Amino acid sequence: MKIGNDIYYVGVNDHQVDLFEGQYVVPNGMSYNSYVIMDEKIAVMDTVDANFKDEWLENVSKVLDGAKPDYLVVQHMEPDHAANIENFMKAYPDTTVVANTKTFTMMGNFFRNLNLDGKKLVVANGDSLTLGKHVLTFVFAPMVHWPEVMVTYDSTDKVLFSADGFGKFGALDVEEDWDCEARRYYIGIVGKYGAQVQKLLKAAATLDIQTICPLHGPILTENLGHYLEKYDIWSSYKVESEGVVIAYASVYGNTKKAVELLAQKLEEKGCPKVTVFDLARDDMAEAVEEAFRYGKLVLATITYNGDIFPFMRTYIENLTERSYQNRTIGLIENGSWAPAAARIMQGMFEKSKNITWLENNVKIMSSLSEANEAEIEAMAEELCK
Ligand code: FEO
Repeated sequence: MKIGNDIYYVGVNDHQVDLFEGQYVVPNGMSYNSYVIMDEKIAVMDTVDANFKDEWLENVSKVLDGAKPDYLVVQHMEPDHAANIENFMKAYPDTTVVANTKTFTMMGNFFRNLNLDGKKLVVANGDSLTLGKHVLTFVFAPMVHWPEVMVTYDSTDKVLFSADGFGKFGALDVEEDWDCEARRYYIGIVGKYGAQVQKLLKAAATLDIQTICPLHGPILTENLGHYLEKYDIWSSYKVESEGVVIAYASVYGNTKKAVELLAQKLEEKGCPKVTVFDLARDDMAEAVEEAFRYGKLVLATITYNGDIFPFMRTYIENLTERSYQNRTIGLIENGSWAPAAARIMQGMFEKSKNITWLENNVKIMSSLSEANEAEIEAMAEELCK
């Protein structure tokens, strides 16, 4: 695949991966993108996951068509992109590796036997590298998603090589909506680092970008404003859409009944969107993503070992460690002798910014009572205000 005049896609699709980054289910697989810029000097942009060494080297070799690469630009050291640096250097030993100081330190730690003496070009933030027609400028993007990350701007073709930024779950040979899997990817993987993404967006706003080449997901060529707007919303923790997410943990179904009644009442009252997650069974990353997408969240759990049910604890930790904020939360607790879940859940958001707590919460003793039904009605009413 050719992008513009001289840029070639040489990435791979992974349909074997069971859990991306050790935790994310990827029903449509994953792509590890890599690019070659053919100019007077030839630059290869990043490598791919270890399992795709042969396929990737074959893709690179076809594009090179007998030519020798001059540079391997390493934007990010996470092994889904950097695993084949040593293999590449074995195949093309005269290549100069282009990276920043932090990247070279990590490279030494990942590849104990890789000797790059005389083959390193250390770049600083804002440095440029001229390939011929193409001039590459390196913009450091620390913590989007690791501290060494840099993105690369090609001012000739107006291409931003954006590292993990603007990436998504899903291989490139499967058609699917960008927003949903890009959001689940962003919130899960980069969500904690909104401030750093905002900084990168400000730097990007000064550049004339016509194409975005991320390390995962499709190359973005049209309607770039859409993707930039989504990234601005997600990284500033704004509400993307109006709606209510109800996330619950239930053992014998009584807490679940309360959730179902609440969802029914919200729908009857015309709530724009209601999404329900069973935290023990549904995809945790999707439940997290949706909490960041919508403005209101209801958490419902049993009390368990004087604490809350473990799936709910994990869920709330997933939210708070990603800087969950600017949202409204309601609580449903259940306990057969000493319900404590509401207090514990609320306490877990102690450091979260700008949380509005519902006045109408629900306290269930074992199973729904008439009083509980009235509480749920009041909760639904308040959520729909
Ligand atoms: Fe796709 Fe942070 O690696």
